Parts: sequence; C-alpha cells; structure tokens
Amino acid sequence: MTTNINFSDLVNFTEKQDEANEALKQFKFILYGGAMGGGKSYWLRWELVKLLLYYFHKYKIRNVAVGLFCEDYPALKDRHLNKIKFEFPSWLGDYYAQDHNFVLKEDYGGGMICFRNLDDVSKYQSAEFAAEAVDELTKNTKDVFDFLRTRLRWPGIEDTKFIAGTNPGGIGHAWVKDMFINNIFDPNEQEKDKFYFIQARATDNPHLPKSYYTTLESLPEQSRKAFLEGDWDLFKGQYFSEWRKDLHVVEPFKIPYEWKKIVCIDYGYSSPSAVYWCAISPEGYFYLYRELYEIQLTYSSLADRIISMTTDSENIRYWVADPSIWSRKGDSGLSGAETMKNTYRDKKRMALDLVQGNNDRVNGWSIIREYLKPFMVGDKKMAKLQVFSTCYEFIRTFPTLIYDAIKVEDCDSDGEDHAADSVRYGIMSNPTPAIVDPMVLKQKLFNQRHKKYLASMKPQKRGLYRMTGY
Ligand SMILES: Nc1ncnc2c1ncn2[C@@H]1O[C@H](COP(=O)(O)OP(=O)(O)O)[C@@H](O)[C@H]1O
Ligand SMILES: [Mg+2]
Repeated sequence: MTTNINFSDLVNFTEKQDEANEALKQFKFILYGGAMGGGKSYWLRWELVKLLLYYFHKYKIRNVAVGLFCEDYPALKDRHLNKIKFEFPSWLGDYYAQDHNFVLKEDYGGGMICFRNLDDVSKYQSAEFAAEAVDELTKNTKDVFDFLRTRLRWPGIEDTKFIAGTNPGGIGHAWVKDMFINNIFDPNEQEKDKFYFIQARATDNPHLPKSYYTTLESLPEQSRKAFLEGDWDLFKGQYFSEWRKDLHVVEPFKIPYEWKKIVCIDYGYSSPSAVYWCAISPEGYFYLYRELYEIQLTYSSLADRIISMTTDSENIRYWVADPSIWSRKGDSGLSGAETMKNTYRDKKRMALDLVQGNNDRVNGWSIIREYLKPFMVGDKKMAKLQVFSTCYEFIRTFPTLIYDAIKVEDCDSDGEDHAADSVRYGIMSNPTPAIVDPMVLKQKLFNQRHKKYLASMKPQKRGLYRMTGY
C-alpha cells in the first residue's frame, strides 16, 4: 500500500518559513535573520531536504550532495544532529553517524545532506554542493562565505542555492548586514540582485512555548532587542571587516636581507606573549614573517626565545614592545624592559635597541585599517599588510576582534587581541622601508660575524697563536 505524503504537511512550515521557501524560487542567496527561536534552524534543514527532492524531480540527477554548516561541531550537534534523529522519518532516509551524512532513500533520489563544521573551511577545497545552508552566518567572517561560494556547484544543476539563518551580532555581523540587508556589495559582485532577506522575530514561531518569550522579555535591553525583536542596528560586528585571507595571507618566501626588519612584542604571562618578526619591503609592504605566541614566559625567557629564533643575518633594527613592560617589575625588582635588555646584552654582548611602543589604540587601529585596504597593482589586488601563512595565531585571532560596546571606535579588548596589539606597536613605530646599499649591509654582516669569531677563539695560555688552514 502506498501512503501519499504532502511535503508541506510533513514540515508544516510557519508563515515566515513559507515566505523564505517561496523566495528561493526567485533568489539564490536567502538570509532568514533576526530573533532567536523564529524557526531558522528548522527551516534550513528541511529546506535542504526539499531542495534535494526538487533537484531529483527536476533534473533526474541522483545522489546530489548539499551541505549544512555550523561554526563548530558542538553547535552542529546541538542545533541539528540531535534534532534530526526524531524529526526526519526513517522512511525518508538514514543518518550515517560516522560520516555525518543523512542520505535519502533511493526512491527520493539518494541525495545527501552533509553536516559539516566551519572551523577550517579549506578542508572542503575539493568538495562540491548543489546547495549550502549556514546556520548562524554571523559567527563567520566573510572569507568563509567567499570560500563556500566557490564550492557551490553541481554538474547539470543550474539553480544552486545558498541559504542561511542567523541572530544579529558576532564577528560576521557587519558584512552580513551589508550584503543581505543593506545590499552594499564589493564592486565586483556579479549577483547583486540575487540576495534576499527575511526578518525573523521570535513571535514568528507558534511552536515555541509562551514561557520562552517571557525569558527573552526578561533579558537586558540590548539583548532583548536583538534576540526577541531581531534588531540589526545594535551591533557592529567584526572590527577589521577589511580582512581577507586571499588578500592578506601569503605563502612564505625568503626575505631579502637588505629589507628592513623589526621585532614587535606584546607581553603577557597568563595570557600569551605575542611576538612578530616584520619586514618592510622597499615598496613599503609590511610583512609578518615569523610568530611566537606563548604563555608563561618570563621577561628573560621571552628575550631568550626571541634571540634563539633570530639569526644574525636577519639584521633586526630594533625591538618594539608594549609600553607597560617599562613600568611592570619582575621578581628581580627590575622592569620588564630592563630585564630584556640585560638578557640581550649578556647573550649577544651588545646593547638591544628596545623601543617603547605607542599605545594610542584607536589611532593605531586606524593605521592598521589603512594597511588592510586593497589597491590595484596592475591587474592584481594588493594590500600593504601581508602575513605569512605560518603566522597561525595572527590569522586565527585577528579576524575575530569585534567592536567595543562602550568605546565604539575601539575594538573590544576582552577579545584575543595580543597578536593585533603586537603588530600595532610594530606599525605605530613607523618603520619606513630602508633604502640600503646591499654592499654596506654585506660588510656589516661580515664585521658582525668576524667579531663573533674572534670572541669565540680561546686565548692560548702561552706562546704564539697557531695558525692552520692556509
Ligand atoms: N514549522 C515548525 N514545526 C514544528 N516545530 C518547529 C517549526 N519551526 C520551528 N520549530 C521548533 O521550534 C523551536 C525553535 O526553532 P529553531 O529553528 O531552533 O529556531 P531558531 O533557529 O530561529 O532559534 C525548535 O524546537 C524547532 O524544532
Ligand atoms: Mg537556530
């Protein structure tokens, strides 16, 4: 006996969910965004089921894959995996826990929803999806969206779709709001008219118990507005929204020795010390080429580590550090700066040029912002700040900084800002590119090595110095 099932009866979409579903016929990128509890996550997973059925019906293509993404695995589990066990009927398909895939029965085309996390999107480099859904889109930077767009393709399917649900706020708030709500795009955006936004409110969802609204009503004013009414004007989101991996991250290369180089330091003990080796190219590009990011280093052990990670041939001009280490005293009664200088002198037998960093945060950030701005060099997009792909902690933490809720022109210093602080001291020290004659540098290098060599010779107790090797 066959039982006829109407998809609409099965999912029983709310009015707003229906509106989102309808919009998908006309638009490619849909954001259902705003309040908590509006039914966003529910809509995303069921809309993917619907898209799989639709692709099979329309194109007769079997085993199509679509992806449902959350920022990390626990979120994926809480928002979806725990729910589909009860929500997706067993006659519809099977969930394969090891692969995190829900596969529709062959009768429905054998399509597959791949549940995936977004902690490192580059692992999906060779994957393709006919449709993608991102739950809590504002928890991601624009890089993630740009990358996922490149994975949105399936042979034979013209109308691929990107759907997302989200609350306001978070590191992605600004770019999501720009693109989906205000329709402000990058100049080269080719699909401007394919974006659609649906405002979610908690009251959209009749399936929620009344007590839940009472809970949202009781939140402090700002959270109440954001989570009950879905107000998008309360947050600014990512502080450096100009950051793009494809523009600012480069593969390591050998830095020419005539480039000017400095070391910048943000000191921490229970939080990490962040150290960057920076090189300024003759054209004025500012490269971060090495990183040290470690907790529980004393001032002297930090200086030791920096010395051991640096070779003489790098010809570092100066170290620039967090100004607070001039006032903070270590166990010895000396300031952090003095301790570092002493360690350097003992080890290297010369004085360290340790420069006090400028701590005008807002000004510093706006200079970094200038360094992030793209400009054209021929037909290539470039930016003044270039980060070696080996500076993992900078690349991880820099895009997660958000605006401060009170001092709105500053970034929130509760975020992981050590790497950004360190580079700010570096850039604020105004390291202009050095125009150096390579011959002069070579000579300097030779002198340095020679001095070291002489120092390493043990004086003979008596008699002449015996010469060999000539
Ligand atoms: N159309 C629907 N039919 C039945 N339950 C729904 C429907 N839409 C949402 N729900 C349920 O309402 C609750 C909140 O929905 P959810 O999608 O998690 O909201 P949001 O992601 O917007 O916070 C969940 O328990 C969800 O299963
Ligand atoms: Mg949700």
